[in-house]
Amino acid sequence: MNVEQLTRTAQAMVAAGKGILAIDESTGTIKKRLDLIGLESTEDHRRAYREMLLSTPDLGQHISGAILFDETLRQTTSSGQRFVDLMKNAGIIPGIKVDKGAQKLAGHPGEMVTEGLDGLRDRLAEYAKLGAGFAKWRAVIKIDDSAPTSACVDSNAHALARYAALCQEADIVPIVEPEVLMNGSHDLDSSYEVTEATLKSLFSALYDQGVLLEGTILKASMVISGDECDEQASVPEVAEATLQCLYNAVPAATAGVVFLSGGQSEIVATQHLDAMNSVGPHPWPLSFSYGRALQHGALMKWGEDIENNVAAAQAILAHRARCNGLAATGQYDESVEAA
Ligand code: 13P
Repeated sequence: MNVEQLTRTAQAMVAAGKGILAIDESTGTIKKRLDLIGLESTEDHRRAYREMLLSTPDLGQHISGAILFDETLRQTTSSGQRFVDLMKNAGIIPGIKVDKGAQKLAGHPGEMVTEGLDGLRDRLAEYAKLGAGFAKWRAVIKIDDSAPTSACVDSNAHALARYAALCQEADIVPIVEPEVLMNGSHDLDSSYEVTEATLKSLFSALYDQGVLLEGTILKASMVISGDECDEQASVPEVAEATLQCLYNAVPAATAGVVFLSGGQSEIVATQHLDAMNSVGPHPWPLSFSYGRALQHGALMKWGEDIENNVAAAQAILAHRARCNGLAATGQYDESVEAA
């Protein structure tokens, strides 16, 4: 384990005013996204879409790294350049999703555990050779009347910690992502309680496995009302609850915290991040690792005419990256959004 390299990479991922572009949709998930624009999910279309995103001019100004799916890490652009090289030239660190997805947790109907540890050491060694500087593993925790159980929370935390230790052995920075889903009718307090318990279980497991926190990035879900809850918490309430939760559960040595968007609209995701960074300083940089909240507008614009709307779609992505980059330092406001 190269402590210096891991620490340097982790710090670069959360450098001031920068965050992560999550474009690591699995083959099943990217199909759902391309269905939105009526485009068949062929390898060429997936390449064209991701090439449009990654070749956005000056993307590296506010994007420190991008998480790829296995296919993209191995792929070349339409002109034959490896995506990894395109990214490195733009100052963007290549990352790789390494989990194999969430599967049903035996004995716990409705709950999931993320798989992918078998053979992971060898896959990570190959990913490091292919140019990956960091990796991602996502666990899924849902809230309802009977969930989550401690079996679900602790099994996922254990898998996340074993994944993180294997990453660091390969000098790859682990992003640990225990996503507490915002789907459901639960309120802000339930979201707080489950998110705090999940993070405490995760950091206990990371400690047990000897994971270097200075070389680890937490990808957290915000403490937020369920999307079907009658009472929706305001932006300041979400920011305050999320900060309180992180302060109670995330050790200060952790290199950084980046948020997923999880189904929030683009602008609300930016507002939440900005509200958290408008107060502080905090023990860790707080930034973004958005998927939908960075891509959605660009996807829809590109889908209107995939030949001729490349620049227009890229401008939408660049704008969201800039807005979120400013939110990562608490400098976002309506005039930035309108610009
Ligand atoms: P969303 O921001 O769309 O939730 O995606 C982030 C991500 O990488 C989920 O694993």
